[in-house]
Amino acid sequence: MPDIVIPRHLAVIMDGNGRWAERRHRPRMIGHRAGARAVNVCIDFCLQRGIEVLTLFAFSSENWKRPEEEVGALMKLFLNALEREVDELHRRGVRVRFIGERERFAAPIRERMAAAEALTAGNARLTLAIAASYGGRQDIAAAARALAAEVAGGRLRVEDIDEAAVDARTALADLPAPDLFIRTGGDHRISNFLLWQLAYTELWFTETLWPDLDASVLQQALDDFAGRERRFGLTGAQLAQNREGTPA
Ligand code: FPP
Repeated sequence: MPDIVIPRHLAVIMDGNGRWAERRHRPRMIGHRAGARAVNVCIDFCLQRGIEVLTLFAFSSENWKRPEEEVGALMKLFLNALEREVDELHRRGVRVRFIGERERFAAPIRERMAAAEALTAGNARLTLAIAASYGGRQDIAAAARALAAEVAGGRLRVEDIDEAAVDARTALADLPAPDLFIRTGGDHRISNFLLWQLAYTELWFTETLWPDLDASVLQQALDDFAGRERRFGLTGAQLAQNREGTPA
Protein backbone atom coordinates (compact mmCIF):
# COMPACT_ATOMS: atom_id res chain seq x y z
CA MET A 1 0.00 0.00 0.00
CA PRO A 2 1.46 3.42 -0.86
CA ASP A 3 1.82 5.88 2.01
CA ILE A 4 -1.23 8.09 2.37
CA VAL A 5 -0.03 11.68 2.07
CA ILE A 6 -1.73 13.79 4.70
CA PRO A 7 -1.08 17.54 4.70
CA ARG A 8 0.53 18.75 7.91
CA HIS A 9 -1.05 22.19 7.59
CA LEU A 10 -4.43 22.93 6.03
CA ALA A 11 -5.42 26.57 5.36
CA VAL A 12 -9.06 27.35 4.59
CA ILE A 13 -11.10 30.25 3.23
CA MET A 14 -14.62 29.59 4.47
CA ASP A 15 -16.66 31.30 1.76
CA GLY A 16 -20.33 31.15 0.84
CA ASN A 17 -22.20 31.71 4.10
CA GLY A 18 -24.10 34.70 2.71
CA ARG A 19 -25.15 32.92 -0.50
CA TRP A 20 -26.19 29.83 1.46
CA ALA A 21 -28.63 31.98 3.44
CA GLU A 22 -29.79 34.05 0.46
CA ARG A 23 -30.69 30.87 -1.46
CA ARG A 24 -32.96 30.02 1.44
CA HIS A 25 -34.39 33.58 1.55
CA ARG A 26 -32.96 33.97 5.04
CA PRO A 27 -30.82 36.76 6.52
CA ARG A 28 -27.06 36.42 5.86
CA MET A 29 -26.47 35.92 9.55
CA ILE A 30 -28.26 32.56 9.40
CA GLY A 31 -25.57 31.53 6.92
CA HIS A 32 -22.81 32.59 9.30
CA ARG A 33 -24.43 30.56 12.09
CA ALA A 34 -24.54 27.52 9.83
CA GLY A 35 -20.94 28.36 8.96
CA ALA A 36 -19.95 28.10 12.60
CA ARG A 37 -21.29 24.52 12.62
CA ALA A 38 -19.19 23.74 9.54
CA VAL A 39 -16.12 24.95 11.47
CA ASN A 40 -16.69 22.05 13.86
CA VAL A 41 -16.98 19.60 10.94
CA CYS A 42 -13.62 20.82 9.69
CA ILE A 43 -11.94 20.61 13.10
CA ASP A 44 -13.30 17.06 13.65
CA PHE A 45 -11.97 16.04 10.26
CA CYS A 46 -8.48 17.41 11.03
CA LEU A 47 -8.41 15.62 14.38
CA GLN A 48 -9.48 12.34 12.77
CA ARG A 49 -6.93 12.56 9.95
CA GLY A 50 -4.02 13.66 12.13
CA ILE A 51 -3.60 17.04 10.43
CA GLU A 52 -1.32 19.11 12.70
CA VAL A 53 -2.34 22.68 11.87
CA LEU A 54 -5.61 24.17 10.66
CA THR A 55 -5.70 27.86 9.76
CA LEU A 56 -9.15 29.35 9.19
CA PHE A 57 -9.84 32.75 7.62
CA ALA A 58 -12.67 33.89 9.92
CA PHE A 59 -12.63 37.64 9.25
CA SER A 60 -10.46 39.62 6.89
CA SER A 61 -9.12 43.11 7.51
CA GLU A 62 -11.50 44.18 4.70
CA ASN A 63 -14.59 42.56 6.30
CA TRP A 64 -14.92 45.55 8.67
CA LYS A 65 -16.37 47.41 5.67
CA ARG A 66 -19.46 45.14 5.56
CA PRO A 67 -22.77 46.63 6.76
CA GLU A 68 -22.57 47.53 10.44
CA GLU A 69 -25.37 45.12 11.27
CA GLU A 70 -23.51 42.14 9.75
CA VAL A 71 -20.21 43.07 11.43
CA GLY A 72 -21.97 43.43 14.81
CA ALA A 73 -23.74 40.09 14.41
CA LEU A 74 -20.49 38.37 13.38
CA MET A 75 -18.77 39.76 16.49
CA LYS A 76 -21.57 38.35 18.64
CA LEU A 77 -21.18 35.00 16.90
CA PHE A 78 -17.41 34.98 17.53
CA LEU A 79 -17.92 35.85 21.18
CA ASN A 80 -20.54 33.11 21.62
CA ALA A 81 -18.39 30.57 19.80
CA LEU A 82 -15.43 31.43 22.03
CA GLU A 83 -17.58 31.03 25.14
CA ARG A 84 -19.19 27.83 23.95
CA GLU A 85 -16.44 25.91 22.18
CA VAL A 86 -13.14 26.59 23.90
CA ASP A 87 -13.48 24.13 26.79
CA GLU A 88 -14.38 21.34 24.38
CA LEU A 89 -11.47 22.23 22.09
CA HIS A 90 -9.18 22.14 25.12
CA ARG A 91 -10.54 18.74 26.17
CA ARG A 92 -9.76 17.43 22.69
CA GLY A 93 -6.16 18.63 22.76
CA VAL A 94 -6.55 21.61 20.41
CA ARG A 95 -4.22 24.59 20.81
CA VAL A 96 -6.03 27.77 19.77
CA ARG A 97 -4.34 30.92 18.57
CA PHE A 98 -5.36 34.05 16.74
CA ILE A 99 -3.54 35.97 14.04
CA GLY A 100 -4.45 39.44 12.80
CA GLU A 101 -5.05 42.91 14.18
CA ARG A 102 -6.51 41.92 17.49
CA GLU A 103 -6.49 45.49 18.79
CA ARG A 104 -9.41 46.23 16.43
CA PHE A 105 -11.74 43.92 18.38
CA ALA A 106 -13.72 45.04 21.43
CA ALA A 107 -12.27 44.23 24.85
CA PRO A 108 -14.59 41.26 25.65
CA ILE A 109 -13.51 39.49 22.45
CA ARG A 110 -9.82 40.29 23.01
CA GLU A 111 -10.09 38.94 26.55
CA ARG A 112 -11.73 35.72 25.32
CA MET A 113 -9.04 35.32 22.67
CA ALA A 114 -6.27 35.70 25.24
CA ALA A 115 -8.02 33.32 27.66
CA ALA A 116 -8.50 30.69 24.93
CA GLU A 117 -4.83 30.92 23.97
CA ALA A 118 -3.68 30.70 27.59
CA LEU A 119 -5.95 27.74 28.42
CA THR A 120 -4.92 25.70 25.38
CA ALA A 121 -1.25 26.73 25.08
CA GLY A 122 0.05 23.33 26.20
CA ASN A 123 -2.03 21.26 23.76
CA ALA A 124 -0.32 19.49 20.89
CA ARG A 125 -2.86 17.38 18.98
CA LEU A 126 -4.01 20.12 16.58
CA THR A 127 -3.08 23.79 16.35
CA LEU A 128 -6.09 25.85 15.29
CA ALA A 129 -4.99 29.27 14.02
CA ILE A 130 -7.91 31.63 13.53
CA ALA A 131 -7.21 34.56 11.25
CA ALA A 132 -9.32 37.44 12.51
CA SER A 133 -8.99 40.96 11.11
CA TYR A 134 -6.13 39.41 9.19
CA GLY A 135 -4.65 40.42 5.83
CA GLY A 136 -1.67 38.85 4.08
CA ARG A 137 -0.24 42.18 2.98
CA GLN A 138 -0.68 43.54 6.48
CA ASP A 139 1.24 40.49 7.79
CA ILE A 140 4.16 41.15 5.40
CA ALA A 141 4.10 44.88 6.19
CA ALA A 142 4.27 44.11 9.92
CA ALA A 143 7.30 41.87 9.30
CA ALA A 144 8.96 44.69 7.31
CA ARG A 145 8.24 47.12 10.15
CA ALA A 146 9.74 44.73 12.70
CA LEU A 147 12.89 44.31 10.59
CA ALA A 148 13.23 48.06 10.10
CA ALA A 149 12.87 48.66 13.85
CA GLU A 150 15.59 46.09 14.58
CA VAL A 151 17.92 47.68 12.01
CA ALA A 152 17.23 51.16 13.43
CA GLY A 153 17.91 49.82 16.93
CA GLY A 154 21.23 48.33 15.84
CA ARG A 155 20.12 44.75 16.54
CA LEU A 156 20.08 43.61 12.90
CA ARG A 157 22.24 44.30 9.87
CA VAL A 158 20.59 45.08 6.51
CA GLU A 159 22.71 42.39 4.83
CA ASP A 160 21.27 39.78 7.20
CA ILE A 161 17.72 40.34 5.91
CA ASP A 162 16.91 37.27 3.85
CA GLU A 163 13.80 35.12 3.31
CA ALA A 164 14.27 33.34 6.62
CA ALA A 165 14.49 36.69 8.44
CA VAL A 166 11.23 37.90 6.90
CA ASP A 167 9.57 34.53 7.49
CA ALA A 168 10.55 34.58 11.18
CA ARG A 169 8.59 37.80 11.64
CA THR A 170 5.36 36.70 9.93
CA ALA A 171 2.28 35.50 11.76
CA LEU A 172 2.73 31.71 11.58
CA ALA A 173 6.53 31.67 11.76
CA ASP A 174 6.74 28.80 14.23
CA LEU A 175 4.51 26.47 12.19
CA PRO A 176 5.11 24.53 8.96
CA ALA A 177 3.88 26.39 5.85
CA PRO A 178 0.43 25.31 4.63
CA ASP A 179 0.59 22.20 2.41
CA LEU A 180 -2.99 22.48 1.20
CA PHE A 181 -5.26 25.50 0.75
CA ILE A 182 -9.01 25.00 0.39
CA ARG A 183 -11.50 27.65 -0.63
CA THR A 184 -15.21 26.89 -0.64
CA GLY A 185 -17.89 28.96 -2.41
CA GLY A 186 -16.65 28.71 -6.00
CA ASP A 187 -14.30 31.68 -6.29
CA HIS A 188 -10.71 31.03 -7.35
CA ARG A 189 -8.92 33.70 -5.35
CA ILE A 190 -6.52 34.01 -2.43
CA SER A 191 -8.26 37.21 -1.22
CA ASN A 192 -5.26 38.54 0.74
CA PHE A 193 -5.06 35.42 2.94
CA LEU A 194 -1.62 34.00 3.82
CA LEU A 195 0.24 35.57 0.88
CA TRP A 196 3.77 34.89 2.11
CA GLN A 197 3.02 31.46 3.51
CA LEU A 198 1.14 30.09 0.46
CA ALA A 199 4.15 30.33 -1.90
CA TYR A 200 4.36 26.54 -2.48
CA THR A 201 0.97 25.48 -1.16
CA GLU A 202 -1.29 23.25 -3.27
CA LEU A 203 -4.54 25.11 -4.04
CA TRP A 204 -7.94 23.38 -4.13
CA PHE A 205 -11.28 25.02 -4.85
CA THR A 206 -14.83 23.73 -4.53
CA GLU A 207 -18.26 25.08 -5.47
CA THR A 208 -19.60 23.78 -2.14
CA LEU A 209 -20.77 26.65 0.05
CA TRP A 210 -19.08 26.66 3.46
CA PRO A 211 -22.20 25.75 5.51
CA ASP A 212 -22.68 22.65 3.29
CA LEU A 213 -19.18 21.38 4.10
CA ASP A 214 -18.96 17.75 5.12
CA ALA A 215 -16.21 15.17 5.53
CA SER A 216 -16.65 13.90 1.95
CA VAL A 217 -15.75 17.32 0.50
CA LEU A 218 -12.66 17.52 2.69
CA GLN A 219 -11.75 13.96 1.75
CA GLN A 220 -11.95 14.90 -1.96
CA ALA A 221 -9.45 17.68 -1.29
CA LEU A 222 -7.12 15.27 0.51
CA ASP A 223 -7.39 12.67 -2.26
CA ASP A 224 -6.54 15.31 -4.84
CA PHE A 225 -3.62 16.53 -2.71
CA ALA A 226 -2.27 12.97 -2.37
CA GLY A 227 -2.05 12.69 -6.16
CA ARG A 228 -0.12 15.91 -6.72
CA GLU A 229 3.60 16.14 -7.30
CA ARG A 230 5.04 18.98 -5.22
CA ARG A 231 8.20 20.08 -6.97
CA PHE A 232 9.17 23.23 -5.04
CA GLY A 233 10.84 24.57 -8.21
CA LEU A 234 12.72 21.35 -9.04
CA THR A 235 12.12 19.11 -12.06
CA GLY A 236 10.18 15.87 -11.77
CA ALA A 237 13.39 13.93 -12.57
CA GLN A 238 15.29 15.68 -9.76
CA LEU A 239 12.53 14.81 -7.34
CA ALA A 240 12.62 11.14 -8.38
CA GLN A 241 16.41 11.09 -7.88
CA ASN A 242 16.06 12.73 -4.46
CA ARG A 243 13.49 10.11 -3.47
CA GLU A 244 15.94 7.36 -4.44
CA GLY A 245 18.63 9.04 -2.36
CA THR A 246 20.95 9.72 -5.32
CA PRO A 247 22.31 13.22 -5.89
CA ALA A 248 20.30 15.28 -8.41
C1 FPP B 1 -17.50 34.26 4.20
O1 FPP B 1 -18.80 34.08 3.68
C2 FPP B 1 -17.48 34.10 5.63
C3 FPP B 1 -17.19 35.07 6.56
C4 FPP B 1 -16.85 36.45 6.22
C5 FPP B 1 -17.26 34.79 7.99
C6 FPP B 1 -16.73 33.47 8.41
C7 FPP B 1 -17.38 33.11 9.66
C8 FPP B 1 -17.79 31.87 9.98
C9 FPP B 1 -17.58 30.67 9.13
C10 FPP B 1 -18.57 31.67 11.22
C11 FPP B 1 -17.89 31.42 12.48
C12 FPP B 1 -16.44 31.27 12.52
C13 FPP B 1 -15.77 31.02 13.67
C14 FPP B 1 -14.29 30.87 13.65
C15 FPP B 1 -16.49 30.87 14.96
P1 FPP B 1 -19.49 35.28 2.92
O2 FPP B 1 -20.35 36.01 3.89
O3 FPP B 1 -18.46 36.12 2.24
O4 FPP B 1 -20.37 34.51 1.87
P2 FPP B 1 -20.82 35.03 0.44
O5 FPP B 1 -19.58 35.09 -0.41
O6 FPP B 1 -21.77 33.96 0.00
O7 FPP B 1 -21.49 36.37 0.65
